Amino acid sequence: MSEERNMVTVYILGEHFMVPEGSTIMTALEYSGFQLKRGVGCREGFCGACATVYREKGEYKLKGGLACQTVVSDGMTIARIPFVPAEKAAYNLEELKPDVSTFVELYPSVFRCVSCNTCTKICPQDINVMDYIQDIIKGDIASAAQTSFDCIRCGLCALRCPAEIVQFNVGMLAQRLYGKYLAPKSPELETRVAEIEEGKYESEIKRLKVLPKEELVKEYYERDIKIT
Ligand code: SF4
Ligand code: SF4
Ligand code: FES
Repeated sequence: MSEERNMVTVYILGEHFMVPEGSTIMTALEYSGFQLKRGVGCREGFCGACATVYREKGEYKLKGGLACQTVVSDGMTIARIPFVPAEKAAYNLEELKPDVSTFVELYPSVFRCVSCNTCTKICPQDINVMDYIQDIIKGDIASAAQTSFDCIRCGLCALRCPAEIVQFNVGMLAQRLYGKYLAPKSPELETRVAEIEEGKYESEIKRLKVLPKEELVKEYYERDIKIT
């Protein structure tokens, strides 16, 4: 009796299932007997693997979200999507310029943006997706890189874009250009990279690789963190 009170109805690929109230879409799928081999990764909202579309009861609007983070509601209709269109330009970062001309050449779709803001509304990371696309159109690569920084590449923005822009790959290029050409250089980072290349940490890495898990966890939490 009490179990029934805590169950809700969902429709998965057109079939009806009862699942515990408060389940995420991902746990509802598994509770209903679906074995997830694709479209699942971290289960914590970080990897971007689990983009899903759904409709809530009585609503016309098709919504999108991360299956591992979106809680089901009674009467929800759920459909998994096999993949998101993800055209990615091939390029050699060493040969690119950190300005708008690079995007004109590699991602001309960016300039078709109609400023509908659909991408921003669907982003599970609350990123101003339209703003970073507009930054690129204006040639502000640094701002585009910073605004898109938290992107987990779930693809939901691209799924809804009427201009067929693959925002997450565009943002990734902005981040790469910013990191290589525009970001202030860190002397500490350069020193550390040189040390790694010289093999300074090899013996320590070897020691950590054979450490039992409990000791590794202990060392991790007791590590010395320097914040400058
Ligand atoms: S910007 Fe697009 S791909 Fe990145 S997290 Fe937001 S919706 Fe997902
Ligand atoms: S959904 Fe596409 S067209 Fe609409 S604002 Fe975002 S990038 Fe521009
Ligand atoms: S499984 Fe990684 S974000 Fe959902």
